Amino acid sequence: MKQSVKLIAGNWKMHGLSSALSEAQALKDAVAASQPACRVALCPPATLTDRMSRTLSGGGVELGGQDCHEKVTGAFTGSVSAEMLADAGATLVILGHSERRAAYGETDADIAAKVEAAIAAGLEPIICVGETLEQREAGEAVAVVSAQVAGSLPDGLSERDFAVAYEPVWAIGTGLTPTLEQIAEVHAAVRAAMVKRLGETARPAPILYGGSVKPDNAAEILATAEVGGALVGGASLKAEDFLKIVNAA
Ligand code: 13P
Repeated sequence: MKQSVKLIAGNWKMHGLSSALSEAQALKDAVAASQPACRVALCPPATLTDRMSRTLSGGGVELGGQDCHEKVTGAFTGSVSAEMLADAGATLVILGHSERRAAYGETDADIAAKVEAAIAAGLEPIICVGETLEQREAGEAVAVVSAQVAGSLPDGLSERDFAVAYEPVWAIGTGLTPTLEQIAEVHAAVRAAMVKRLGETARPAPILYGGSVKPDNAAEILATAEVGGALVGGASLKAEDFLKIVNAA
């Protein structure tokens, strides 16, 4: 399992037309010039996967999808399988993002099935967990996140490369972030839940933090205990901003 280096992944969500490939090219060039100590990845919308894989080819930026279907093929209009993402050049895939849990009703069991599909296709899953504001205010953050880890990670996962991303729902796209103490507390709980679920072999898998990571807060977040990288939304759309986060790792 790859683990000693941090992973900084950009989630473009539903942003990005052909013209945005220039940002991927700029990031590739900057990563080639600065040789960062971390792994760097971009997860564009599915329509850009193939072209971005050509843009990023031969460079130091990895490519991921944002979701996949649990089945390999079938009558699932509008869906993209893990095998299709891999065929288009992706090596990673984000699964169980809170936006999909909330807007599409994805359950832990759905996400575990998608993780199995991703693994079968040779993709490295980034499995997202995180509490809502209501759950945090009720003192349930650790319990909610621990249960999501227990339910979303399938058996045998720790034999493969994977990451978990802790993204508090209330910190996504809001400019709000937890305190460093809160991040450390939840990351410790996520690690404990991963080890309880999969055993000691899950210890090397990185736990990314996501939710309003910006150039000006990245260094302190990335230096926090058990933070093995970042999953970045808005600040990953422009190579210049994203590179500052990469260089803070
Ligand atoms: P923002 O960085 O825009 O808050 O988004 C975080 C996120 O949801 C990444 O998956």
